[in-house]
Amino acid sequence: MSSNTIFFKNSHVLARAVRYAIAMTLLKEPVCLMPGMWYLPGFAQSREIWPAIRQVIAAAPLRHMQTQRGFKMSVAMTNCGDVGWTSDRRGYRYSAVDPETDQPWPELPAALRSLANSAAAAAGFDDYEPDACLINQYKPGAQMGAHQDRNERSFDYPIVSASLGIPARFFIQGEQKGGKSQSIDLHDGDVLVFGGEARCHFHGVRKLKQATHPQFGSVRWNLTFRVAQ
Ligand code: SIN
Ligand code: FE2
Repeated sequence: MSSNTIFFKNSHVLARAVRYAIAMTLLKEPVCLMPGMWYLPGFAQSREIWPAIRQVIAAAPLRHMQTQRGFKMSVAMTNCGDVGWTSDRRGYRYSAVDPETDQPWPELPAALRSLANSAAAAAGFDDYEPDACLINQYKPGAQMGAHQDRNERSFDYPIVSASLGIPARFFIQGEQKGGKSQSIDLHDGDVLVFGGEARCHFHGVRKLKQATHPQFGSVRWNLTFRVAQ
């Protein structure tokens, strides 16, 4: 495992410089952005995992879930794995069945499991066996507000987050919501692993700008793997 460590501050200029440095000198080595948070540039092969994502979406269609306060989320979501993350007027939770179909969520495809497992290992987290994968679809204008991922039974395991398609600005606020944020632009194939001290940091995604990706068009996909149960 590499010990490259880059602490980054609230500056997209710096985030760009980080990307440049990575592209030029580190050649896809894992980069520690802050304690517990690892950035794996271009780690995921979006062409290779896309058939698995398509297969999940065919069985468990994307939907815009409601928040507890009744707002429709701008990101369309679905899940695969033993349990899936859902939200409605009753709040958010993991559920073993898809509330839209009353069927179990599709199994976690081998190609996705293997991506999560190898990304976690590259960041120093061995034996990572996720039981849930939330699939997010962002179109330009979609965003995700600051939140913590705290519905999982244990925080001993990291969250592995893979980005495909058009870029997005991901921000991290640390332990306090609304705290000073630090950001990084995530591009097709980039993976973040957040565990340890960073496992429960507030984070989110700024409103997506219009862009086009040769394979995915004007869409960003994000997969977040979790050990939920
Ligand atoms: C999430 O925090 O659940 C999604 C993050 C992302 O879309 O990059
Ligand atoms: Fe999250």
